[in-house]
Amino acid sequence: MGIGHTRWATHGKPSEENAHPHANASGTLMLVHNGIIENYQTLRHQLAARGYTFSSETDTEVVAHLIDAEYDGDLVQAVKRALRKVSGTFGLVVMHARHPEQLVAARRGSPMVLGVGNGEMLVASDVAAFLRLTDKVVYLEDDDVVSITRQEFVIDTLADERVERQAQQIEWQPDAVELNGYPHYMLKEIFEQPEAITNALRGRLLPGEGIANLGGLRSVLDRLKEAHHLVIVSCGTSYYAGLYGRYVFEKLTDLIVEVEVASEMRYRKTNIRPGSVVLAISQSGETADTIAAMREAGRKGALLLGLVNVVGSTISRITEAGVYNHAGPEIGVASTKIFTSQCCILVMMALLLGRCKHLSITDGMEIVAGLERLPEQIAAVLKQADYIRTIAEAYARYRNFLFIGRKYNYPIALEGALKLKEISYVHAEGCAAGEMKHGFIAMIDENFPTVCLATKDTTYEKTLSNMLEIKSRNGKIIAVATEGDEEIAHIADHVIYTPPNLDFLQPIPAAVALQLFAYYSAVARGCEIDQPRNLAKSVTVE
Ligand code: M6R
Repeated sequence: MGIGHTRWATHGKPSEENAHPHANASGTLMLVHNGIIENYQTLRHQLAARGYTFSSETDTEVVAHLIDAEYDGDLVQAVKRALRKVSGTFGLVVMHARHPEQLVAARRGSPMVLGVGNGEMLVASDVAAFLRLTDKVVYLEDDDVVSITRQEFVIDTLADERVERQAQQIEWQPDAVELNGYPHYMLKEIFEQPEAITNALRGRLLPGEGIANLGGLRSVLDRLKEAHHLVIVSCGTSYYAGLYGRYVFEKLTDLIVEVEVASEMRYRKTNIRPGSVVLAISQSGETADTIAAMREAGRKGALLLGLVNVVGSTISRITEAGVYNHAGPEIGVASTKIFTSQCCILVMMALLLGRCKHLSITDGMEIVAGLERLPEQIAAVLKQADYIRTIAEAYARYRNFLFIGRKYNYPIALEGALKLKEISYVHAEGCAAGEMKHGFIAMIDENFPTVCLATKDTTYEKTLSNMLEIKSRNGKIIAVATEGDEEIAHIADHVIYTPPNLDFLQPIPAAVALQLFAYYSAVARGCEIDQPRNLAKSVTVE
């Protein structure tokens, strides 16, 4: 029996004193906790007045002492009484020397799943943590308190009611969490993209009808056809997928589309009202800001949808309908295969709604054919990995990068910059190519290279002009362009070619080229790849 926690430092610096597990004074009770105890100062003062002393600066240690103060021989009841005094979020696991065969776990707001193994029980904040050991999982709900022994589990609510939750079988294969010969999960996941896209599309396209068939939206399709207002809400990479989705929804449907950063939307007065559709995009389905923004949207009467990778995650459960990525677990902190999968699914959602309205069958058939070409087109980009590595190595000494793109390529530029900065810690900014002259271009000189997304679309000529502006300021250029475009090679210092497709689909393989560029840049700099500093895979606190 054991507990552990790779801690995200929310209170106090990352130090041994502040590291989990935290204990009561005698060391008989230990706990790990993910989340934030908001009233920890008040509780700390109350406990201090009763003689408790603290050895860390964390909010978590307070809970250890609080449970100790409530303990009278029954660990489950002590945990419940203590947690009733706590406000904030927690996924926590407690062990006690006098209960050597028992763990007690509880959650509110932070993810927690129970794995039912063969003669063993596992509890974690993410199923990927125990996938090697079991594929049977019980999704715990807010305010569940579970008492676990090797053979069984019993779940009560904090209000002391017994609840039954069935174990569910998860689809992910155990080897999905192995490196399978790759040096890093990020590289493995980049190379998994042809398969991830195939899985996203599988059974969801009707080529003869030029339409997508998304089973997860069937129950709400009539309401979607009536809708005029779509709000997409997400964070980080999922937000950039949402930005890409907006362009595609605007092209294929008549919806008014807004894209919101979840941490901003949750505190804003928005236009969301009954009849609005709010779509959360989230790999983990556990991002605290996205969950909170969705709850707000639900209060305003919106139809809540999810585009989520982790089956059974909180967002998949608080939304009325949605679509899963079916991309398998993503372990590397930098999101790669899920980004391209999200983009493809957004195209399918827009295609479905567009075809239910004005979009013609011929246009629909062309889009289906374009989507079906994506796995092999991504594979063609992956074949250039060595070439992209040499470019990344050639630029490894630069400390600043600009990424530019227009229209469908603009979100890809933002995502390319995020990939580079999060794993290689160099300064990288994305901007709409047309915005360059409104400020960004001031930074350009021979030490400030630009990555230009310049695949062939209606804005191509304008992007080319931007590249000339960069050249005239001695800026170096790495271009991502459509195969066969020879003109661009006269302007750019390096060109990565991606296969031709519909204008709004070409950016998807282009995004893969930028993932490889970021990966090899970070390797060339000797950076930690899968767990970059200061970042967590699932951001389950605000
Ligand atoms: O699980 P989510 O998609 O909700 O996560 C949102 C962001 O935290 C995430 O996309 C983050 O930006 C990426 N790990 C960056 O690569």
